[in-house]
Amino acid sequence: MPERLTIRRPDDWHVHLRDGAMLAGVAGFTARQFARAIVMPNLAPPVTTAGAARAYRDRILAALPADSGFTPLMTCYLTDNADPGEIARGFAAGDFTACKLYPAHATTNSAHGVSDIRALTDVLETMQRIDMPLLIHGEVTDRDVDMFDREAVFVDRILAPLVADFPALRIVLEHITTAEAAQFVEQAGERVAATITPQHLMLNRNALFDGGLRPHAYCLPVVKRERHRLAIRRAAVSGSASFFLGTDSAPHDVARKEADCGCAGIFNAPHALESYATVFDEEGALDRLEAFASENGPNFYRLPLNTGTIILERAETIVPPAIDIGGSDVVPFHAGRTLGWRLVE
Ligand code: DOR
Ligand code: ZN
Repeated sequence: MPERLTIRRPDDWHVHLRDGAMLAGVAGFTARQFARAIVMPNLAPPVTTAGAARAYRDRILAALPADSGFTPLMTCYLTDNADPGEIARGFAAGDFTACKLYPAHATTNSAHGVSDIRALTDVLETMQRIDMPLLIHGEVTDRDVDMFDREAVFVDRILAPLVADFPALRIVLEHITTAEAAQFVEQAGERVAATITPQHLMLNRNALFDGGLRPHAYCLPVVKRERHRLAIRRAAVSGSASFFLGTDSAPHDVARKEADCGCAGIFNAPHALESYATVFDEEGALDRLEAFASENGPNFYRLPLNTGTIILERAETIVPPAIDIGGSDVVPFHAGRTLGWRLVE
């Protein structure tokens, strides 16, 4: 059993860094571990233009020390009125790395999301032509579809036809939570990939009701049955290049989580690497963590691998019950618990 693990510096291929005081308080947790991150565009208002992406990137960099070495990779929030010309220009200029598709009303700040994917044909054709990745929040939002089935139904009804209709479009199914999603991605070939979060590797849906209602285990897509968690774990440690690290760290003030209608999102950035190391260790797959965390993502995005390294050691990490972010408490993933791995500074 290795006591220390040195791996190439990883990237986070899906994170919510927020804005304003929240951004100032959370950005450092991501930049401390990761060289780059795909930054989600679901601000209010959402990031829909190259100019807005540039301005947001500047605010992220301003929230970090000048020598952080961190590179935010920006995304364009797709709406029903998304403009293929703006997207292509933003991609060519390096302002956008990818586009994010939120089905309307699927999650936090998704009211401006896409109500019918058929309205996006021109956009998707453009993205396919310029080889720009499409990142998908894969849940249907129909009220008659059970909350726990929304991802599997999305794969069947929306994703499978999309993959068939756009045979060269590169797609990332974000934060997968089900055996169906893992299986679809595995068999779809190189151009379809998936990110996997710490919480979907570590929690099943019992966590939502563990002795009482647990708002800090609530994220979207919601955590699923144990058999799905096990399927997601198998995918992550399988060695398949189609699966890579994306935390979906999504901080909300404690008051917005512990509420009558609490927000979805788990703030896992503070101990993301320790969480993933714990999972890969439990699966006897520490030798595959580097590919998952540091190689499969850049290879999919056609970006160079990072050159630096990070060190993880087998040692106790005590996770605080809450973290003060700009004067409000945010409760991190594993609050008050002890993890068996530690990122060496
Ligand atoms: O749990 C989530 N929180 N899932 C999402 O898709 C969005 C995110 C957020 O922005 O809070
Ligand atoms: Zn997200």
